[in-house]
Amino acid sequence: MAGYDRMRKGKNIVEPDRSLSHAGNFLLMLNGEKPSATAEKALDVALILHADHELNASTFAARVTAATLSDMHSAITSAIGALKGPLHGGANEAVMRMLFEIDKKGEDPVEYVSNLLNNKKKISGFGHRVYHTEDPRATHLRQMSRDLGRSANPKWYEMSAKIEQYMKNEKHLNANVDFYSASTYTTLGIDVDLFTPIFAVSRISGWTAHVIEQLDDNRLIRPRAEYIGPPYPNRYVPIDQR
Ligand code: COA
Repeated sequence: MAGYDRMRKGKNIVEPDRSLSHAGNFLLMLNGEKPSATAEKALDVALILHADHELNASTFAARVTAATLSDMHSAITSAIGALKGPLHGGANEAVMRMLFEIDKKGEDPVEYVSNLLNNKKKISGFGHRVYHTEDPRATHLRQMSRDLGRSANPKWYEMSAKIEQYMKNEKHLNANVDFYSASTYTTLGIDVDLFTPIFAVSRISGWTAHVIEQLDDNRLIRPRAEYIGPPYPNRYVPIDQR
């Protein structure tokens, strides 16, 4: 039984092992068995890679809330709300759900993705607001996904690699941090529902550091909106005459 199911059913709570690292204990307590050295290292590196990333959407949300002089818990709650969206931290979950669907239907991954693109859909795990070359975090996650796949099940890595190649050739879009974290986490035995919470347990170090920095020299964050509509607004028509 996977760790998450076991946890939900309140069974066999596993005690931590002091000889293991934080990441190793996480996997031990989740899956009920001691992780391999590769698995432990992979999660450790993934947690480090996700810890902070400048002024991304969730960090900005945390700063906006902190800047009103609300409290730390509210700032982190704002951040979690922003992180969950599929254009931000929810993207790795969306990637994995896509891989599961391709697998279930027995479709060719490239054909599946090409159909989505033809229907003007975006492919989760590709593109980035800041990086126009490869997201440097993706380089490490690709390697982890490949290494883990070699010792367990290479299926998710192989499907991902085909999609990545196609996206590069067709759309000139690179994989971002979320693309290979999906296959990495699944090969580690992590349930998809835990992807965003795992992102959050790592990113909380970045969020809290940003909140402290904001409060050290605080000013309310209040952007202005620029009106770009017609120069003379339409005449007001009373509701009963519309
Ligand atoms: N799949 C297909 N096309 C994509 C794409 C994707 N993942 N990401 C960007 N594009 C295309 C857009 O359709 C657009 O094409 P157009 O100019 O022909 O309209 C062009 O690339 C620019 O896209 P845009 O949405 O303006 O880029 P952005 O900087 O505003 O958006 C993201 C960045 C991350 C929101 C966007 O790449 C995306 O939605 N990616 C998928 C979600 C994801 O993985 N999020 C995690 C980010 S770490």
